[in-house]
Amino acid sequence: MHTSPASPLLQLRDLQIAYGQIQAVKGIDLELFEGELVSLIGANGAGKTTTLNAIAGTLNSSGGELIYRGESIVSLPTHKRLRAGIALVPEGRGIFTRLTVEENLRMGAYTRNDQEGIEADLDNVYRMLPRVKERLAQVAGTLSGGEQQMVAIGRALLSRPKLLLLDEPSMGLAPLIVEKIFEVIQTVQKQGVTILLVEQNANLALGFSSRAYVMESGKISLSGSGEDLLKDPKVRAAYLGE
Ligand SMILES: Nc1ncnc2c1ncn2[C@@H]1O[C@H](COP(=O)(O)OP(=O)(O)OP(=O)(O)O)[C@@H](O)[C@H]1O
Ligand SMILES: [Mg+2]
Repeated sequence: MHTSPASPLLQLRDLQIAYGQIQAVKGIDLELFEGELVSLIGANGAGKTTTLNAIAGTLNSSGGELIYRGESIVSLPTHKRLRAGIALVPEGRGIFTRLTVEENLRMGAYTRNDQEGIEADLDNVYRMLPRVKERLAQVAGTLSGGEQQMVAIGRALLSRPKLLLLDEPSMGLAPLIVEKIFEVIQTVQKQGVTILLVEQNANLALGFSSRAYVMESGKISLSGSGEDLLKDPKVRAAYLGE
C-alpha cells in the first residue's frame, strides 16, 4: 500500500510554459510523493515533453510555481536541479553518439566529485543492466535503440537522482525490450527513486503507475489511480484505441 507523507516531493502549481507567443502548458497542477511512480499520458502535442523539460530546467516556465522538497526551483539552472536530485531521460534519449557507453554513463555524474559513490552507482547500473556492462567500450551511436535507452537511463542514475523524469522510454522499441525497460524502471523505483513517466503507451504506463494524469491541449483533463484511469471510458476511448 502506498502511504503519502505530508508534503509532496514535487508540486506544480498553475504551471505555465510558453514558446514565444504560443502557450504550450496553460496552468497545470500536479503532485508527486516520495516513492511514487506517476505517469503523464496524453495525445501528441498535449504538452508532456514541455512539462518534463520545465521540471528539469532545460526549459523555463512562464508562470506558476515549481516546488521541489518545499522550495521553489523556478529560478534554479538545470545543473543545480540535477545536483538537487532531478534527472531527465529526454525524449529521443539524448545520448552522446560518438562517446563510448562508459563515457556516456560517467557523463551522468558530471556534477559529482564523490569518486567512491560514483563507482558504487556504476556497479549498481551494471548489475541492473548487464547488456550495458557488456558494451562499455562500444561507441554509443552503434547501439540498438533498446540499448541506447538503457544507457540513457543508466546515465541518469549516475547523478543519483531522487526524482527521475522519463520521456517516452518505450518509443520505437519492440515489445520484449519495452518489457525489459519497464522491469528496470520498477527496480529503480524499488531502490527509492520517485518517477514521473511520460508515455504514449497508456495501457502499459497506467498498469505500472500508482497514479496518473491525463494531459490535453496544455491542461490536465483527468487524474486518478492508474487502475481507475484504465477503467475510465473516456481514457479507453481516447488513449487505448477503443
Ligand atoms: N520549440 C518549440 N517551439 C514552438 N512550439 C513548440 C516547441 N516545442 C513544442 N512546441 C509546441 O508545444 C506543444 C506541446 O509540445 P510537446 O512536445 O510538449 O508535446 P508532447 O505532449 O510531448 O507530444 P508528443 O506525444 O508528440 O511527444 C505542441 O503544440 C508543440 O508544437
Ligand atoms: Mg513528447
